[in-house]
Amino acid sequence: MSFREDGQAALEWTAAYLERVGDYPVLAQVEPGALRAKLPPSPPEEGEPFAAVLRDLDELLLPAMTHWQSPRFFAYFANTASEPGILAELVTAALNQNGILWRTSPALAELELHVAGWASQLLGLPEGWHGHIEDTASTSTFAAIVAARNATGGRVVVCSEQAHSSVEKTARMLGLECRSVPVDAEFRLRPDALDLDDACCAVATVGTTSTTSVDPVAAIGDACREAGVWLHVDAAYAGSAMVCPELRWAFAGVDRADSLVVNPHKWLVTPMDCSLLWTSRPVDFRAAFSLVPEYLRAGDAVDSLGDYGPALGRRFRALKLWAVLRCYGRAGLQAMIREHIRLAELFESWVRDEPGWELCAPRPFSVVCFRRDGEDEENERLLSAVNATGEIFISHTKLDGRYVLRLAIGNERTTEADVRRAWDVLRREASAL
Ligand SMILES: Cc1ncc(COP(=O)(O)O)c(C=O)c1O
Repeated sequence: MSFREDGQAALEWTAAYLERVGDYPVLAQVEPGALRAKLPPSPPEEGEPFAAVLRDLDELLLPAMTHWQSPRFFAYFANTASEPGILAELVTAALNQNGILWRTSPALAELELHVAGWASQLLGLPEGWHGHIEDTASTSTFAAIVAARNATGGRVVVCSEQAHSSVEKTARMLGLECRSVPVDAEFRLRPDALDLDDACCAVATVGTTSTTSVDPVAAIGDACREAGVWLHVDAAYAGSAMVCPELRWAFAGVDRADSLVVNPHKWLVTPMDCSLLWTSRPVDFRAAFSLVPEYLRAGDAVDSLGDYGPALGRRFRALKLWAVLRCYGRAGLQAMIREHIRLAELFESWVRDEPGWELCAPRPFSVVCFRRDGEDEENERLLSAVNATGEIFISHTKLDGRYVLRLAIGNERTTEADVRRAWDVLRREASAL
């Protein structure tokens, strides 16, 4: 078979998968080890046709997959690999660019800076920030805190008790203390409880992982400025929503940030992985990360993007983001975000109006936190039961010590009928328990 024929088969497979993805059980219904038991213990001696890979994808791998592309994936932060993003990933692999220096791929280096600039316009960020792309928000936050420690010398990272675990993990990796600040009744960091003593960095979250609460960035930023502490804003999920001007209240005070992370792979229809990291202090990033050995001295008149983070090798991630921003445009992205918020609002209203159910947190964006009246164990059993149906997949968190269910809307294919089905499944399984 030729590359063209195999390629057409792979594209056909991809298109068919996306058409039928809603028919599969959303959460993989397999036991640990079930897939490995079916795979040959050793690699083949002679090469096989690519068709064999596609066949095993259907027969062996698909049953062991949780379908993130399903319109009824409502767990964690649901996301979407959009069609332009998928095609751009194919081209990215074909080009196999590695942007270790500007000269190893001027297109990669310049497109990355350029799309970060486009994205900053779309999200209404201050002008003049330096933006680049990391793989994940965990890496972006790690890079920001390294730069902060280097610039300030502080030994403590401060964040709310609702901040993502990547903040504490970074502190642990760097041998720094992580100081957790209590939150108010709406799960927002309490600025009155902020202790910045010996801090290098405070992390404010816009869209926390459990409830999508929004920390008071302006107040935290003011305190940071006074104390000489770096402000990192983690808007990994909710940052994408800033494409809608009516949601920009959540970014009030973001101009005070020294660094900011937003993940287009969460809510901007870009395939895994793509995390935008901006800084208003590029000099401090370069001071922390620039290290040029002899074999990389090139005399290029521009700095390389490896000077802004831990990795040297760099995928051409900008291509998929560029494809997405071009093919959707501001209007297309706004329409999707607004529809997700409308659907979340609708689901929230059903829960509010139904006796025996309770909303557990305010809903600024597209995630609803709720529970069934009763014990934690009943809610845990309900979560297992609904996920075992394969019809929907939701996840949970704990708020104020109580077990809470989360329904996160973020897949582009999700319709009102899908959200209605989620509610039907939840009520049906709840009465069956
Ligand atoms: C607020 C927040 N920050 C950071 C992360 C980590 O993202 P990533 O998986 O890209 O490292 C998440 C993940 O859900 C998140 O919700």
